[in-house]
Amino acid sequence: MKNYVRLLSYIKPYMRRLAEAIVCIIIAAGANLYLPWIIKDMIDKVLAEKDMQMLNVISVGIVVTFFIRGIFYYGQSYLVSFVGQRVIIDVRDVLFRKFQRLPLSYFDRHQTGEIMSYIANDVAALQNALVDRLIELVTESSIFIGSLVMMVMLDWKLSLLTLITVPLVGQAMKVFGRKLKSSGTVIQERLADITATMQESIAAIRVVKSFGREDYEIERFHRQNELNFRAEMKNNQLMSLLTPTVEFLAALAVTVIVWFGGYEVVNGVITAGALVAFLTYAVNLANPVKRISRVYGAIQKAMAGADRVFAIMDMPETIVNRPGAKDLPPVRGEVVFDDVTFAYEEGNDALSQVSFSAAPGQMIAFVGPSGAGKSTIANLIPRFYEVSSGAIRIDGYDVRDVTMESLRGQIGIVPQETMLFSATVRENIRYGRLDATEEEILQAAKDANAHEFIMALPEGYETKIGERGLNLSGGQRQRIAIARAILKDPRILILDEATSALDTESEKVVQAALDRLMIGRTSFVIAHRLSTVFNADQIYVIEGGRIHEHGTHEALLAAGGLYSNLYHIQFSKTSG
Ligand SMILES: Nc1ncnc2c1ncn2[C@@H]1O[C@H](COP(=O)(O)OP(=O)(O)O)[C@@H](O)[C@H]1O
Ligand SMILES: [Mg+2]
Repeated sequence: MKNYVRLLSYIKPYMRRLAEAIVCIIIAAGANLYLPWIIKDMIDKVLAEKDMQMLNVISVGIVVTFFIRGIFYYGQSYLVSFVGQRVIIDVRDVLFRKFQRLPLSYFDRHQTGEIMSYIANDVAALQNALVDRLIELVTESSIFIGSLVMMVMLDWKLSLLTLITVPLVGQAMKVFGRKLKSSGTVIQERLADITATMQESIAAIRVVKSFGREDYEIERFHRQNELNFRAEMKNNQLMSLLTPTVEFLAALAVTVIVWFGGYEVVNGVITAGALVAFLTYAVNLANPVKRISRVYGAIQKAMAGADRVFAIMDMPETIVNRPGAKDLPPVRGEVVFDDVTFAYEEGNDALSQVSFSAAPGQMIAFVGPSGAGKSTIANLIPRFYEVSSGAIRIDGYDVRDVTMESLRGQIGIVPQETMLFSATVRENIRYGRLDATEEEILQAAKDANAHEFIMALPEGYETKIGERGLNLSGGQRQRIAIARAILKDPRILILDEATSALDTESEKVVQAALDRLMIGRTSFVIAHRLSTVFNADQIYVIEGGRIHEHGTHEALLAAGGLYSNLYHIQFSKTSG
């Protein structure tokens, strides 16, 4: 109920149009209500009294009624759709904005497919509830209320009898409504599972094929598909039970009315026409009850979606600008980790008491086994995650005290695998700085050793990159990523295994571009191959989330510790 009110708050900006729509609906419904009066006059005046003039009036009345109904029917459909669609667009926008703002830790815990399902399926369910069902709800309610009023005017005793059965029908609706809501939740969850499985299998189709796991995937998907079938059938079963039950109750009511009304006509209390009109209204009454109960079901189902959508909207944005946070002024690039401890999940520290400092322009390298915590260190500098204790300072500013935009605006990151957008090469480079000029884009591409291969693409800078940049090699994608970073011109640079996925040949080209990029910037280089970090100002060997040892290449070799072990393993392998 709370969420329904909340959903309605999205309608608020469109109140005027909604009010106009409701007026249209009421007038169109009112035209419907006039028809039984025509029948009454037809029976009592035209048929019983042979009134020819009345027949003419009635004929004109029918034509006019249907004409008016048509016009307002158009108005109601148009206006309600307008409001409904606007609300959905707004909800979708808010939801998307929320996803942009949620901390990375949310995305660590949820699959892409699951998130897509929220935006696609849940919002679609809301759309259905708001647009189609809203028209039905208002139409049927006005016909219901209007019919009741007419019935009381015709015969209040008979009306009272009718009313006794209505609460019975209402009670049945309530019980079913509750069941429908819970089965609606199950359906949406199953659908989300299916979308997620499908998305995952298709995204990882190469892995599936390389392991020959097609049948395994087919079986896994089939099982989820079956679960969805069962959930759907359960929901449909409830729906199919709901309609006849409500209808039967309505039929009982009609029988009571027919008997008592006939008794009154026989005794001359009401006219025959009045009874026929009354019965028409009573049937009118049954129809809305039936439809409203269906609308009720659809709304319950949509509310299950709304619950999930709002739950996401209410997720805490754990990493936000502090109240009164100031912009980080252009920095020189001094980066200090002061006794930093951090855990992705409570009680399981990924970093423990890490302290180091990088002077402006220095090159700092992190080496160590995989899972040691190197990327985690890199993730903390732009404040993708929040430290558990200790502090990270840039030029003396705690990263938590400055605005995220100004912080991240001065940090460039080249990861191991770059995600390129399905847009042109130019647009992908321009992502680094949206207001970059054409010359700046070209220069950045040249500095990244990318210009030449880009010019060789079918449409040069206008070439569209496939969904995940599939038609470019790893080395080419990295060079576009480097061009993007060059364009951003950050003071602080993070290269997280930027060349690890490349073959030796493209590594050389990319490394040359990276070396150029690092000049004059504070650079953090995470590398597998030690050869890329020989000339670092400081090398930190990370193991188990701690700094194991540190120093220059020569000093570490001389110390004969973990670094010199790694060095000897790598170089006896390559030389021997
Ligand atoms: N997003 C994450 N959520 C939870 N745990 C993570 C996440 N990323 C990394 N970890 C864990 O933190 C530890 C350090 O990982 P990482 O910094 O990626 O290592 P490295 O980059 O040195 O290979 C590992 O135990 C890893 O499993
Ligand atoms: Mg890593």
